[in-house]
This record gives sequence, C-alpha cells and structure tokens, in this order.
Amino acid sequence: MSNRSGNTDKPAESKPRRRKKADFIVVANRLPVDKVINPDGSVDWKRSPGGLVTALEPILRTHTGAWVGWSGIPDADDDPEIDGLQLHAVPLSAQEIAEYYEGFSNATLWPLYHDVLVKPEYHREWWNSYVEVNRRFAEAASKAAAKGAVVWIQDYQLQLVPKMLRMLRPDLKIGFFLHIPFPPVELFMQMPWRTEIVDGLLGADLIGFHLPGGAQNFLILARRLGGHATSKGNVGVRSKFGVVQVGFRSVRVGAFPISIDSAALDAKARSKEIRQRAAEIRSELGSPSKIMLGVDRLDYTKGIDVRLKAIAELLDENRIDADDTVMVQLATPSRERVDSYIQMRGGIERLVGHINGIHGRVGHPVIQYLHKPVARDELIAFFVAADVMLVTPLRDGMNLVAKEYVACRSDLGGALVLSEFTGAAAELRSAYQANPYDLDGVKDAIDAALTQTDDEGRTRMRAMRRQVLMHDVERWAQSFLGVLTDTPDTVADGNRGLRLAP
Ligand code: ADP
Ligand code: F6P
Repeated sequence: MSNRSGNTDKPAESKPRRRKKADFIVVANRLPVDKVINPDGSVDWKRSPGGLVTALEPILRTHTGAWVGWSGIPDADDDPEIDGLQLHAVPLSAQEIAEYYEGFSNATLWPLYHDVLVKPEYHREWWNSYVEVNRRFAEAASKAAAKGAVVWIQDYQLQLVPKMLRMLRPDLKIGFFLHIPFPPVELFMQMPWRTEIVDGLLGADLIGFHLPGGAQNFLILARRLGGHATSKGNVGVRSKFGVVQVGFRSVRVGAFPISIDSAALDAKARSKEIRQRAAEIRSELGSPSKIMLGVDRLDYTKGIDVRLKAIAELLDENRIDADDTVMVQLATPSRERVDSYIQMRGGIERLVGHINGIHGRVGHPVIQYLHKPVARDELIAFFVAADVMLVTPLRDGMNLVAKEYVACRSDLGGALVLSEFTGAAAELRSAYQANPYDLDGVKDAIDAALTQTDDEGRTRMRAMRRQVLMHDVERWAQSFLGVLTDTPDTVADGNRGLRLAP
C-alpha cells in the first residue's frame, strides 16, 4: 500500500459513488492514513501514528475488507479507496476531537488503564461526547457491513461500539480487541460509567486482550458489575473462566498477544540499501563505538525520562564514555494539546538539554533527540545501526518497537533493554529486563547490554528472534478471527493461559 508507506501520497480514488458492502471490517478510532491539507489546498495522506496501524495494516493487505475510522482532522468525510481497501471516514467536529478524543479517550481512559500514571479526569460532557461518537462509529460500521459480516472493533476509544452495533445489526459477528492494558478491578472501579463500559464491551462475541492478566481483570469485573442494580443498564452476567454469559449469549474472553509483520521487516532490514544507510548513520553520528536508541510516541507511559535519568547517572559515574557513546531518541509527536503531554514534553526536553550541557561537546551532543516521525525505511536503518535498544515503559500493553528491533537483527547483533511492565516482556525473556521504577536496576541492565560479549548477545538475540519470527501478526489475526468465527484449530494458540468455551 504505497499510500501508507510513511511518505505522503494521493489516494487512488476519492468518494466512489456506490460501494459494495464488506464481509470483513476493521473499526478503529483512526484510519490507517491521516489526511493532510497542504498550504496550497492540495491533499496528501500519510501513515497515521501508533502500534495499532502498524499491526493491522498488513492484515488488511491479506484479508480484503473495509476500514472505518477518523482521518485525523476536523470535519473530514472523504472515503478514499487505497489498493482495494475501502476507507470509511467518520467525521469528528473540533469539539468532539477535544471532548471524545483528547478528553475522554486520552485524559480519562488512557491514564486510568495505564496504572493511573497521571490522574484521570472525569467530566460528564466528555462522557456524553464519547457516547455520541461511539454511536456514530457503530452506525458507520453498520452501513458498511454485508449481511453476516465479521466486524473487528479496536481499542479503548470504541468500547461502547460492540453493544451499539449488535443492537443495529444482530446478524454480524462482532470482535473487540484492546490494544492497551486492561486495569486491575480496584482502579477500574473509579470510573463513574464503569457499568456502561463493561456492558458496551459485552456486546461483542469475543473480547481480546494482550495478556491473560487483562482478560482475568475483565472477567472479575464482568462478574462484579453483573450483580449491580438494573437501572443503569445492568449486564446481568454469569461468568466463568474465559466465558461470560449475557442472557442467552456467550461472550468469549481471551488473551491474544499482538505482533508485527516480522518476515517483511526481516527481509527489509537485510537489504543492501538499509545496511548502507545504517553504516551512514553510524558515521554521521561520529562513528561512536556504541549507539543506544529509543523509538517512541512521545507519551508519559513510555518511560523516556527513565532511560534518560539512567544514562545521566551512568555518565556521572563514568560507566558510560561520553566521547564514544551516542544515544538517539526518536520521538513522534503525540496528543500535543493534552496537558499531561505538554508537561511531559517539557520535562524530557529539559533533561536532554541538561545531559548535553554537562556531558556534551560542541558538535558532539551525547543525546540526539528528534521530535518528529521518521520514515519507515529510515527507522529500520536506525534499528540495524543500534547496539542497544532502550524500551523502558512504566506500563505498555505490548510495545511493538521491541519486536521490530528484534526482527531487524538477522545479524544477531545488538541488545534489547526491556521494561518488565510491557506486554512484550512475557515473550522476550532473553532481553535485559528491568523494573523501570528501580533506577539502579535500569542502569545495571543498560550497562550489561553495553558490555555484553558477542557470544552472549548472539545467544540472547537468537532466542528472541525465534519467538518474534514464529509469532507474527498474521498468526495473531488468524488466532483471534479463528476463535471469533469458530474455527477450532486456532483456539489453543490464541489463548495462552485462558480456557475458552469449546
Ligand atoms: P504505541 O502503539 O503506544 O504507539 P508501539 O510500540 O506498540 O506503541 O507502536 C508504535 C509504532 O509506531 C511502531 O510501529 C513504531 O515503529 C512506530 N514509531 C514509534 N516512534 C516512531 C518515530 N519516532 N518515527 C516513526 N515511527 C515511530
Ligand atoms: O494502542 C495504542 C494507540 O492508542 C492506538 O489506539 C492509537 O491509534 C495509537 O496508539 C496512536 O495514538 P493516537 O491515535 O492518539 O495518535
């Protein structure tokens, strides 16, 4: 899909008049491409940010279908078709972007589901907007779906859509997948609209989480909230391990760890062009003996401050040689109007300035920081060039960057420092794992990664590559869709640690 390669491009076609209804539909807050209106009024489409698009874009290449989502700017209702994939834009007004997206999705649900790292804000107007926008997504999905279609709803922005869609279209098979952690019951119970959210999710036939822990949290909640009074839309559930009974319907709940298109990334990273570019990057950085790399959306969950503080102390203690080591932090701008993001950005940029001020030389900063998205091929070259990859979130549902790094290292070089609080930590056991709240532990992990022997590094990387190459995103999708559409041979693979109904 050339239009989604990270470069801007024109859609193949705009607003086709009559559209065939689709048998397979992805519904996500964002379309896979963002609409960009240039100063001269021309329109470009560029890949939208985040792991959800990285994971689902290859799936829509192999499973033809439609994608319902928002195009990233106010009031846009274009429905382009790209490489056979029909995009159905759900328009959002500027006020809905402020209340539904920046407000309820990213200043209420996001911090609540990520360990309350910042205080979630609960506002009734934001909730009302969330309900209204979820209804619009349900209507758009209902319009796009053929009879008996499979509809796969994605992520925390759309938790009410499963029930709303079921009420409009009882003929559909409805799946829901949460791309972020599902919180412990004690935290979720803060939510004033907790019953409505659980009730909304239970409109699906199958609800998927990254890890068994998230699925278990949800099952406990469904049982607890099912006992509540009927006046607030009581879900009336009886739950057992892996299944929630809602009236006559069985809703299955399971763990499906998401992944990446590992083979495609592996092949790309082996190409001559990427290898050459990786060598150029090293030389542009002054040919240091060690390059450390961070690649993230600029989000407070990612622990960018944690790795910077660890590096600062290692430099202070002369455990890192400032003359021969460079750290590159590539940070995509994210949710830039949300207060907590504005504050966090200020903190990170002060830290970068502080470290460079003390340990850098003119023309040779120790930390090189970019606040902009990097084109896909360039990013792959950075992965190939990096000796140590730093992935230090305070909480992360999966973290695809960790898997991308591993997929790019067919040379068995490099080392991964990985927070225990990512979903990826459950699979990448051979990474240098650390608790991001234990700064000494993070420092030791970075130090060990920087000083590993070649043999040690190869053994660790080989084990991680086996996992990432075998468990790719196609296998993830097959396993979720197999359970959703009752294809029994895929059930066991998808639900590690959870028993599903036969
Ligand atoms: P999240 O979904 O929270 O953003 P993930 O790590 O799961 O986190 O996925 C992030 C995706 O965005 C990955 O595919 C990664 O390569 C991409 N990405 C992250 N930072 C950048 C960047 N600075 N430039 C380009 N792509 C980026
Ligand atoms: O799963 C993480 C996620 O929040 C996706 O839902 C989202 O599309 C992506 O990260 C990027 O965030 P945003 O859409 O807010 O830019």
